[in-house]
Amino acid sequence: MKWKLFSISVYTSFLFLIGCSNGETQQISDAQQQTKEAKIESKEQGIHSNFELNESCKSCHKNIYEEYSTSMHANASIFKDPVHKAIWDKHPKNKKMQQYVCAKCHTPAANNFKYLVTEGKHQVPDANNPTHLEGVACSYCHRIEAIKLGEKTNTNVIASKRKEYFGNIEEHAEAGFHTIKTNNELFLNGNVCIGCHSHKQNKHGLSVCTTEIKNTESENCITCHMPEMDGSVAIGSERTKHHFHGFAGTHSKQELLAQYVDIIPERKGNQVTVTITNNASHALLLHPLRLGLLKVNITSANGTSKELEPVKFMRVLGKDGNPAPPWVADTELKNTVLQGKESKTFTFDTELKDDDKINITLGYFLVNPKMIEKLGLQDNEEIKKFHVLKSTSI
Ligand code: HEC
Ligand code: HEC
Ligand code: HEC
Ligand code: HEC
Ligand code: HEC
Repeated sequence: MKWKLFSISVYTSFLFLIGCSNGETQQISDAQQQTKEAKIESKEQGIHSNFELNESCKSCHKNIYEEYSTSMHANASIFKDPVHKAIWDKHPKNKKMQQYVCAKCHTPAANNFKYLVTEGKHQVPDANNPTHLEGVACSYCHRIEAIKLGEKTNTNVIASKRKEYFGNIEEHAEAGFHTIKTNNELFLNGNVCIGCHSHKQNKHGLSVCTTEIKNTESENCITCHMPEMDGSVAIGSERTKHHFHGFAGTHSKQELLAQYVDIIPERKGNQVTVTITNNASHALLLHPLRLGLLKVNITSANGTSKELEPVKFMRVLGKDGNPAPPWVADTELKNTVLQGKESKTFTFDTELKDDDKINITLGYFLVNPKMIEKLGLQDNEEIKKFHVLKSTSI
């Protein structure tokens, strides 16, 4: 455990600045009056503008911006992630309380963040508010100064300087738009990710999502999910390589992660054995909505093929012995997902001829097909599709 590495500082809550009156008895123009009213209204709605929009990084960090735009970080809001929206639509915090607690990790740069997450304010995400479309914003992630560890979830501590970003390039060019700080070890050892990715407990104390954290400087969230890529860091920079900001995961670029999973098939008489080793530091599928499958297909020399009964990888949450949604569940009923660094051998019985070809595929559905219709996602081809992580044949 690396907990002790964290510098834990006081959580600086978001401040909003409103113009102070200097007491002068001046006649104020209509424009000033309007600004004043807008500011008062903003205050009542908890509005502040604290994080630069992603769009403002685009002109200088073209490569990084383009990769980022395809990532689930850029698309984490209910307006861009239909799966997140489908769960939010059913969630009691929405239906009963209109309290968008998810903002903490899904839209932390919202300009009324505090009000979105506070009970009784009844503020919900608004498609016309550009800061509600931002997801895990560039400027948010690059201002994470420390992580406060918590039982239910962890909390990111955001540096107070608005345009000062943390990074690792010790000798950097002048950015102009912003200043740079390179003394934050969270950006070296991958722990910058764990304010949002470590765990999330529901009100029954059940951990709905857990990512095992075994970060070291040589192998961590950044080394696997943000590998180095060709392409300049910024206009005006001499660096020709940057870290991948598309955040390879289950939605996209899984080919960058396939190298961390080994599949070794063997034929023994009328049996096929498949040994899978998960070299990732955490379980292979992290979200309880996913369904993983190990498929074996036998193709004979004359071209006919048969599909054997696949092995299923899933994590089922429940209550009183029955499956239940994450906010109701108080136990884990089943967990067959391959854990971090785990290796398992699966045996398939079948009739085999010498010249049969055996094809093995390891992949997953983002949402278990049993749930797709219940969540109203049946028209979404991307969600219905089977994603291949890796395949091989003998
Ligand atoms: C503590 C941070 C945190 C909070 C709070 C949080 N989430 Fe998430 N959520 C994540 C992370 C991290 C992932 C991606 C990791 C994974 O796939 O397990 C994720 C993924 C998801 C996914 C899967 C999305 C997909 O496209 O496959 C859904 C659905 C989801 N969250 C719903 C919610 C809802 C609804 C809320 C609020 C009621 C919420 N989350 C609150 C961190 C959080
Ligand atoms: C006017 C151009 C410009 C704009 C706009 C700009 N940057 Fe930069 N940024 C740079 C340059 C130049 C560097 C230095 C690159 C180098 O030295 O190789 C840099 C470096 C960085 C670094 C690297 C720090 C490090 O040491 O690793 C981060 C992080 C960063 N920018 C984030 C952002 C974010 C986030 C935005 C948008 C909110 C943004 N930048 C907008 C020009 C810009
Ligand atoms: C502010 C919270 C936050 C931080 C910090 C954060 N993430 Fe995420 N991450 C999320 C959320 C929320 C999702 C899920 C978005 C969704 O699917 O709607 C996610 C999704 C992902 C995914 C899944 C992508 C996919 O295609 O399935 C990966 C991989 C990931 N994050 C890696 C990282 C890494 C690496 C870091 C640290 C460098 C990091 N995250 C930091 C909130 C965060
Ligand atoms: C040794 C490489 C490795 C390391 C280290 C690693 N991961 Fe992963 N990660 C993987 C692989 C492999 C997958 C599976 C991808 C797939 O199934 O498409 C994955 C998947 C994920 C997903 C998507 C899960 C889902 O169900 O959608 C998230 C989120 C994620 N990792 C976050 C992290 C975070 C946060 C860290 C650091 C604590 C981390 N990873 C460290 C290799 C790694
Ligand atoms: C989830 C967190 C996260 C988000 C979102 C994010 N970054 Fe980064 N970024 C990182 C981390 C971590 C590194 C450091 C990687 C390293 O040095 O190992 C990094 C590195 C950089 C660098 C230094 C060059 C490099 O690639 O190593 C620049 C510049 C940068 N980011 C700009 C941006 C911009 C611009 C955006 C949005 C378009 C963005 N980042 C979004 C986490 C993030």
